[in-house]
Amino acid sequence: MSEKQIFQPNPEFAKEARIGSMEAYNALQKRALEDYEGFWGDAAREKIDWIEPFSGVLDEANAPFVKWFDGGKLNVAAQCIDRHLDTRKNKAAIIFEGDRGDVQTITYLDLYKNVNRFANLLKEDFGVTKGDRVVIYMPMIPEAAYAMLACARIGAIHSIVFGGFSAEALKDRIEDAEAKVVITADGAFRKKKPYMLKPVVDAALEGDTPVEKVLVVERNEEEVTWKAGRDYSYNELIQGKSAVCEAEVMDSEDPLFLLYTSGSTGKPKGVQHNSAGYILWAQMTMEWVFDVKENDTYWCTADIGWITGHTYIVYGPLAMGATTVMFEGVITYPDAGRPWAMVENHRINQFYTAPTAIRVLHKMGEDEPKKYDLSTLKVLGTVGEPIDPPAWKWYYEEVGSSKCAIVDTYWQTETGGHIVSPLPGATPIKPACATLPLPGIIAEILDPATGEKVGVDETGYMCITRPWPSQIRGVWGDAERYVKSYFGDVKKDGKAVYFTGDGAVYDADGYITITGRTDDVINVSGHRMGTAEVEAAIKKHANVAEVAVVGRPHELKGEGIFAYIVLKSDEGVADEVEEVKAINTIIKQEIGNIAVCDDIIFAPGLPKTRSGKIMRRILRAIAKGEKITQDISTLEDPSIVATLEKIVNG
Ligand code: PRX
Repeated sequence: MSEKQIFQPNPEFAKEARIGSMEAYNALQKRALEDYEGFWGDAAREKIDWIEPFSGVLDEANAPFVKWFDGGKLNVAAQCIDRHLDTRKNKAAIIFEGDRGDVQTITYLDLYKNVNRFANLLKEDFGVTKGDRVVIYMPMIPEAAYAMLACARIGAIHSIVFGGFSAEALKDRIEDAEAKVVITADGAFRKKKPYMLKPVVDAALEGDTPVEKVLVVERNEEEVTWKAGRDYSYNELIQGKSAVCEAEVMDSEDPLFLLYTSGSTGKPKGVQHNSAGYILWAQMTMEWVFDVKENDTYWCTADIGWITGHTYIVYGPLAMGATTVMFEGVITYPDAGRPWAMVENHRINQFYTAPTAIRVLHKMGEDEPKKYDLSTLKVLGTVGEPIDPPAWKWYYEEVGSSKCAIVDTYWQTETGGHIVSPLPGATPIKPACATLPLPGIIAEILDPATGEKVGVDETGYMCITRPWPSQIRGVWGDAERYVKSYFGDVKKDGKAVYFTGDGAVYDADGYITITGRTDDVINVSGHRMGTAEVEAAIKKHANVAEVAVVGRPHELKGEGIFAYIVLKSDEGVADEVEEVKAINTIIKQEIGNIAVCDDIIFAPGLPKTRSGKIMRRILRAIAKGEKITQDISTLEDPSIVATLEKIVNG
């Protein structure tokens, strides 16, 4: 199978699909181009259960600060739950499978009651009101989804912190958002053993903190410490709470959530998403890209701590009234057949995961898919990083029996939902290619120097040249950073346009392939990591004088973290193994296990220009084992390049 091969949509599938042909796709995109506001206005009127209708579609007067569906009133939790009660009250909203194989089915009516009770608890016991920030630091259990929706119901702004982040990282995010409440769990189960979250919260709240109350879901019943007056048991407080809670009337542009993500400089930024535009696109992309039907069961393996978990485990599926699977465990436990056993068991129809997971499942269990009945699968998705052709091929042939569409969905925390992706019933797909912008999304690859669209096979900057409803609305507390981070690099026709930070290329058919980040962000197992953050953590080691972190290709993770470290003492490293351990311990404390370095090398110096700028391009090339082709004569000390090459590549 060559990379050029094209796979047509399955005709049986296409017949039933919401967008069933390229003609249908082209017609939608043409409408959007010709009548942008008409296109989006109609979509919003059709999809959203408005409490009060909007008066304007798009307000660009203060671009890049834009407003969508101005004047409209809605509640996102009601959009996800209440409006389904007439037709779907007994349908499964969430099917939860625990690490130990325990299964719980939560109907839309159950969800309604559980979310309302949760919302009443937050209001009555903790005094949470509209606009308050609530940090959620939770394992993958149904209460995490209830917590999100309870916040949405009362107008509080949730900020989920991935459960793998350290106390220090959690503390930073709590402080930046000035959160009043933290919702957590004692812990959960991983590989049949309990693991803990509450102690991390305790450590994050030491010293001054804006947090007044902590709500603890007792999941694994392990012993934890309780601070009187601050910590409360969800399991106790939820008793007797009313299952009715009026949904707060929210403005289209009221914030729904914050989600911190890494940029190329500084600390992670609180990406802000607002209510109407976000939920509209979450729902539309669920319907178009996964084409979930009324009786289907859909499973996305992400964690709710990432944007994929927000949009495609909770908000998108529930907004469209689908059945979404939530999984607490590890996909390779007890063996690499676990996801396929789950597909068989729950008769899953759409399966959405990251290329890293596909590579690991392929490597650890190449023949596992054959052992299970995967015939219910219709659409397979990937997200988070470029997928390589061998992983794509295995996914397509072995998991999808060469009959399922693979949707390689390209997007990011800031875009809220998919941006470039095949449509399973319409788009002929090519391995490892995100294909075309979705209808309504005006995404173009531009030359940053001229702002012109690049030609075939020329790499350029992946930009979105018109505002779209689910776009980031701001960086929490830092309006200037929002403008600088996203609207500073590329101008089209003299107007700043949104730049994703990714490079991309068109092929002769106009298909888009993402080539990766153009900035100092690396993508480890589909998780975004700023090299500056990792460097800041390493610098906390008393003996580190200088450090530079770069990405390098990694067989399973996509990219691995490679650190060049210059120590303060000139005597060299007494015990390299111990030193590496000490540095990784600091990284775990400062960020979490996901940022642990794959390679740490101790160097006598770093390649710098005479003005002191570290030449990362050279460091990246050395880490990849590539030949250095650029001129190094202008470096402060050109000989350092050969020294580093020798240390790294022998
Ligand atoms: O570099 C792109 C890569 O992941 C980045 C976004 O990361 P994050 O905000 O954490 O969101 C991940 C889940 C949407 C992008 O800037 N990326 C995401 N999807 C793809 C991808 N790279 C290539 N192909 C994809 N399908």
